[in-house]
Amino acid sequence: MSDIKSVAIAGAFGTFGSHVLKALVDAKFKVKILTRSAKSADTYAGVEQIEVDYASIESLSAALKGIDAVVSTVAAAAIGTQGPLIDAAAIAGVKRFIPSEYGAVTTNPKVQTFPLYDNIFKMRNLLQEKADAGQTTWTVLALGAFLEFLFEGPASIVNFKECKALLLDEGDNRFSANSLAASAEAIAGILKNPIATKNRVVHISQAILTQNQILKLAQKLRPEDQWEIEKVASSAMREEALAGFRAGDFSLPVIVKLILGTGIAGETYGGAYAETDNDLLGIKQFSGDDLTQSVAEKLA
Ligand SMILES: NC(=O)c1ccc[n+]([C@@H]2O[C@H](COP(=O)([O-])OP(=O)(O)OC[C@H]3O[C@@H](n4cnc5c(N)ncnc54)[C@H](OP(=O)(O)O)[C@@H]3O)[C@@H](O)[C@H]2O)c1
Repeated sequence: MSDIKSVAIAGAFGTFGSHVLKALVDAKFKVKILTRSAKSADTYAGVEQIEVDYASIESLSAALKGIDAVVSTVAAAAIGTQGPLIDAAAIAGVKRFIPSEYGAVTTNPKVQTFPLYDNIFKMRNLLQEKADAGQTTWTVLALGAFLEFLFEGPASIVNFKECKALLLDEGDNRFSANSLAASAEAIAGILKNPIATKNRVVHISQAILTQNQILKLAQKLRPEDQWEIEKVASSAMREEALAGFRAGDFSLPVIVKLILGTGIAGETYGGAYAETDNDLLGIKQFSGDDLTQSVAEKLA
């Protein structure tokens, strides 16, 4: 496979996409941003923005002319709408497609019938069809949890502000985690290693963590805090989410329950990666000090 030089990023203004944009510019790829509406915000010198209609294969294939690789970082809610983008990439002769999913257990066949995960499988199957037809190739990046999302936001597993933690099972379920910046560097690593990453899932893991490990660090750093700790079985959390979906509730709290009830469910779905592509993709393992510092920053 010839070198990948030009890359289109879909969703480059988003939480993860903005890190991917920086990593690809830093790695000297020629970058084009696909967006539903051009932003006035400055990006980087030489980076072009192009407005696309994600439902139109015509609009998308025109935008992808001369592009070697597409990195999709579209929002979780838009994962199921990547079909026309994949079709257009195949038509335009894009050599590598990295779909938006970036999950912990998204590649485990046991989750493929669950709401949200089903769309991820549909997109991956479509990519495999295109690869079988010799029209493109794909790589999926499995990264566990974004570290930043563990510490704050709707899916945070330890609430430092209110000193509250909801432990799944006993709090000892292991899961892989990576920072947004390291995960973005892994994307650059995939594009620099197209042969070794062709048509496969690659795994990165800066750290394998548990909720108890994070909690213990917080207690050590600020022993005066009184923590309110609750426990819930990961199976119960998952069941609650599935019952919510069956009742037509696709609200964020229900979605979060499914993500935590699968991603932090111990060995059930395999969220802690024993084998990784860290070396290939240039990902450095977290030291104990790195984790202490991350927790200390959140407590400050
Ligand atoms: N493992 C984890 O812990 C974890 C946590 C969070 C997210 N993720 C994954 O990371 C990926 C990116 O998530 P994110 O949170 O960074 O995304 P985000 O910031 O919510 O959105 C990224 C961009 O998607 C574009 N987009 C295209 N179609 C859209 C649509 N129909 N609705 C909304 N936005 C649309 C928007 O760009 P334009 O307006 O420019 O078109 C938006 O800026 C997703 O695959 C998500 O599942 C993983």
